[in-house]
Amino acid sequence: MVELRDATPADLAAIAAIYNQSVVDSTASWDYEPWTAAQHADWYAYKVERGFPLLVAVDADQVVGYASYGEFHHKIGYDRTRELSIYLAEAARGKGVGTTLMRALIDHARADGVHVLVGGLSADNEASVRLHRKMGFVEVARMPQVGRKFDRWLDLVYMQLVL
Ligand SMILES: CC(C)(COP(=O)(O)OP(=O)(O)OC[C@H]1O[C@@H](n2cnc3c(N)ncnc32)[C@H](O)[C@@H]1OP(=O)(O)O)[C@@H](O)C(=O)NCCC(=O)NCCS
Repeated sequence: MVELRDATPADLAAIAAIYNQSVVDSTASWDYEPWTAAQHADWYAYKVERGFPLLVAVDADQVVGYASYGEFHHKIGYDRTRELSIYLAEAARGKGVGTTLMRALIDHARADGVHVLVGGLSADNEASVRLHRKMGFVEVARMPQVGRKFDRWLDLVYMQLVL
């Protein structure tokens, strides 16, 4: 049974393992190099400082996924728009955990006065496209070949949900 709770610093190693796996073996993240522990610690401190949510999904005491949102763009005029991210360990995918995390993130955003949630997706990420569509996000932009990883061009798809 998967449960959600706010992340603590003790979860950072598990979060890093999940994210870094996606860095090395997928186009879900367009980073090339795994993040260091220091990078994840800075990222966590920034989330806490800004009051952004960082939720973890826990199954049998193991963190199997996480979800968060943060700034879409840095200028103040974008302040009611947030860009989200969700990452699951491979073994936890395709079982509804992403849907559960996304639902909680949307609830948090509504309560927080967010007006628009944006997902920036690699167009080849079928599971992510399906998850966003299922939750009511609509494609609003498609930017061909703006990314490059694994020696090929990647298309960026923006999907948004107006809350
Ligand atoms: C993308 C991700 C968050 C989706 O979460 P999930 O728990 O696997 O997805 P769910 O089981 O909740 O399913 C959500 C929808 O996606 C579909 N889906 C899930 N995995 C899929 C896959 N591999 N291929 C195609 N569709 C898939 C499901 O069928 C479901 O749609 P439906 O209810 O209309 O049938 C998860 O797979 C993941 O962490 N992937 C690696 C990291 C990543 O891509 N993050 C997103 C970065 S933008």
